[in-house]
Amino acid sequence: MAKAPDNSDQISSGIRGILGRPEVYLFFQFLMNSHGKYRMCIERFLAPVNGKKILDIGCGCADILALLPRDVDYVGFDMSPAYIAYARKRFGHRARFFNRRVSDIDLQNLGLFDIVIADGLLHHLNDAEARDLFRIGFCALHDSGFMFTADPTLVENQDFISRRISLMDRGRHVRSPNAYQKIAKLVFPSLEVHVINNVSNRPQTGCILKCYKLSK
Ligand SMILES: C[S@@+](CC[C@H](N)C(=O)[O-])C[C@H]1O[C@@H](n2cnc3c(N)ncnc32)[C@H](O)[C@@H]1O
Repeated sequence: MAKAPDNSDQISSGIRGILGRPEVYLFFQFLMNSHGKYRMCIERFLAPVNGKKILDIGCGCADILALLPRDVDYVGFDMSPAYIAYARKRFGHRARFFNRRVSDIDLQNLGLFDIVIADGLLHHLNDAEARDLFRIGFCALHDSGFMFTADPTLVENQDFISRRISLMDRGRHVRSPNAYQKIAKLVFPSLEVHVINNVSNRPQTGCILKCYKLSK
C-alpha cells in the first residue's frame, strides 16, 4: 500500500501509524461513533445540504458522504494516497477526489462552492498551513457560502480524559478555541465559535468554527 508522505505535523509512527490504513482508521472511527458526530454536524451546522456543492479538505476516506444526500456535488482533497484510493473506490461514482496536501491544492476549473468542510484537519496543520487552508476555503466560496471546521481542543478546567484524548491525537497542533479562531480571523470577516463537550457521547471536547465569506 502507498505510504502517506512524511509530515512532521502529523504523528505517523507507533500505534498512531496504523491509523494510516483506511480500514483501521474507519474501524477506530466506528468505535468513536463518528457517524453520530457527522450527523450532529450536518443537522446543527451544515444544513440545509440538499443540492449543495461541497468542498471537503482533509476528507480522509470521505465517510461523511455516506450520510449526505445523493444530490450533493462533492469534491474531496486529502494528502493520504491510501485514504483517497479508498474514497474513490467507495464513492468515485458520485464524487471527485484529489490526492493533495493543503499547500498544493489548486482549485482551478472546479468553480465555486456553497460549503467548505475541514473536519479534523486544522489540528494537523502548523499555523502557516492553517492560514493557507482558510485562504483556500475563502477563495473557494460563493459570497453566501461558509467554511466549517471541527477539531479537538484544549480548554481550561477540562476533564482529565478529554484532555488526554486531545493530547494523544495524531495531529501535533491541537489548540485552544481562541488560537483556532485567531487564525481563521486573519482571513474570514465573520465567524462563530462553538465549544462542544462530549462530542457524540465520547469524552472529547471539540471546537467548531463556522466562518462566513461575508460579514453577517
Ligand atoms: C482526523 S482525519 C479527518 C478525516 C475526515 N475529515 C474525517 O472526518 O474522517 C485528518 C485528515 O487530514 C489529512 N491531512 C493531514 N494533514 C494534511 C495536509 N497537510 N493536507 C491535506 N490533508 C491532510 C489526513 O490525511 C487525514 O485524512
